Amino acid sequence: MNLYKRLLLYIKPYWHVLLAAIVCTVLAAGGNLYLPWIFRDMIDDVLNAKDAFRLNMISISIVVIFLLRGIFFYGQSYLMNWVGQHVIIDIRTEVFRKLQRLSMSFYDKNKTGTIMSYVTNDVNALQGAMVDNTIDLVTESFILIGSICAMVYLDWKLTVFTILTFPAVLFFMNFFGKKIRSSGGLIQASTADITSVLQEAVSSARVVKSFVREQYEIDRFEKENEENLRANLKNAKYMATLTPTIEFVAALGVTLIIWYGGNNVIKGETTAGSLVAFLAYAVNISNPIKRITRTIGNIQKALAAAQRVFGILDLKEEVKDLPGAKALPSVTGTVSFEHVTFSYNKGDQIIHDLSFDVKPGQVVGLVGPSGAGKSTIASLLPRFYNCDEGVIRIDGTDIKQVTLDSLRAQVGIVPQETILFNGTVYDNILYGRLDATKEEIEAAAKAANAHDFIMELPQGYETMLGDRGVNISGGQRQRIAIARAILKNPRILILDEATSALDTESERLVQEALNRLMVGRTALVIAHRLSTIKNADRILVMEKGSLAEDGTHEELMKKNGLYAHLYQIQYYNNKEES
Ligand SMILES: Nc1ncnc2c1ncn2[C@@H]1O[C@H](COP(=O)(O)OP(=O)(O)O)[C@@H](O)[C@H]1O
Ligand SMILES: [Mg+2]
Repeated sequence: MNLYKRLLLYIKPYWHVLLAAIVCTVLAAGGNLYLPWIFRDMIDDVLNAKDAFRLNMISISIVVIFLLRGIFFYGQSYLMNWVGQHVIIDIRTEVFRKLQRLSMSFYDKNKTGTIMSYVTNDVNALQGAMVDNTIDLVTESFILIGSICAMVYLDWKLTVFTILTFPAVLFFMNFFGKKIRSSGGLIQASTADITSVLQEAVSSARVVKSFVREQYEIDRFEKENEENLRANLKNAKYMATLTPTIEFVAALGVTLIIWYGGNNVIKGETTAGSLVAFLAYAVNISNPIKRITRTIGNIQKALAAAQRVFGILDLKEEVKDLPGAKALPSVTGTVSFEHVTFSYNKGDQIIHDLSFDVKPGQVVGLVGPSGAGKSTIASLLPRFYNCDEGVIRIDGTDIKQVTLDSLRAQVGIVPQETILFNGTVYDNILYGRLDATKEEIEAAAKAANAHDFIMELPQGYETMLGDRGVNISGGQRQRIAIARAILKNPRILILDEATSALDTESERLVQEALNRLMVGRTALVIAHRLSTIKNADRILVMEKGSLAEDGTHEELMKKNGLYAHLYQIQYYNNKEES
């Protein structure tokens, strides 16, 4: 019931259109109710009394009524769709807004395919429920009530007879309604699973092929597909049982009417026309009951979808602005971690009591074995996650006390794998600062060593990148990412293994661009190849979420600890390679 109320809130702004739609629906349904009445008049007044004038009147009224019915049908159909579409657009936008605001932890926990299915399948299911099913529900309810009134008017005793079959019908409706609702949920869930397997397989085609895991993926997909089949068949079974059961019960009712009413006509207590009209209404009410049952099934399915959509809307944003948070003023770039602890999942601490300071303009190398927590530190600084204990300060201000936007505007990140959007090279660089001029973009591209290769692309800066555009190499992507970061011009820069995925030649170009980018900024450089951070002002060595060593390259080499060990391994490996 709460779900209905919540849906109604979305419909509220459009209530006057909805009202018009419902009026049209009721009037159109009235056209259907008129038909049995024609039978009665035809048999009793025209055929029995042989009245030609009556016949003409009836003929004209049929034409007029059905013309009006057509007009109201148009109104019902168009207006109801109008309301449905507007509500869906509102909900879809709200879900997307919510998705944009949700914290990283949400994206860690939910598969891309599942999230997409919320916005597409579930919202669409809602739309179906609101338009078609609402029309059906209003039309059929009105026909049901109208038919019963007409029946009572024609012969109340016979009506009581007929209505006695209702409890049986209601019982079956209720029983199957519950089953259908639960199997509807199963179908949606397994469709989401299929989508997510599909999404993974398609987006990771390269990995699948390189590991020759086609069969594995096919098996996985088949499994999900079969789950889906089972859920659908279960639903189909309930649907298939529901209709004939109710029809059989209805047929019993009709037989009763024919028998009882026929006797009344024989005894002369009622007219033949009335009995025929009554029968027509009685048969008619089995239709609304049948359709209302089906509609309730559909609405139940849609409510399961609504529940998932509202579930998303109700999620708490774990990382958000505190009440009264102020904008972080332009910083000089002091960064300090004070006794910071952090865990992605409760009970599994990843960062333990970490403290360090970085002075403005310093380039600090962050090294350590993989899994040591380097990227995690990089995520904590722009507050992608909140740390559990301790404080992270920028220029002495606790980053939890300032607005996310102002914080993130001053922290730039160049990750290992750059995400480029579907769009032109120009748009991709512009993403760094939307009000940049063409000159600024070119200057950024030049500083990022990207201008030359961009000019060689088929349409230069207007070349499309992404799914439907040209493919560029990893080094080129990285340089576009750097141009983007240069344009953003953050005081604090995080490079998370920005050159790790590159070959030596493109690494040189990218490194050159990075060196230019780092000038005058506080830089946290996470490096896989230790040679790239040898010249850093300071090197922090992480091990299992704690700071193991801290110093310059020379100091750390002299110390002959973890860093010296890691450095020597790489040094000799490189020598062997070359
Ligand atoms: N989104 C995440 N959810 C849960 N655990 C994570 C997540 N990201 C990283 N981890 C875990 O945190 C630890 C540190 O990871 P990370 O900071 O990426 O290490 P590094 O960058 O030093 O290789 C690892 O044990 C990793 O499994
Ligand atoms: Mg990492």
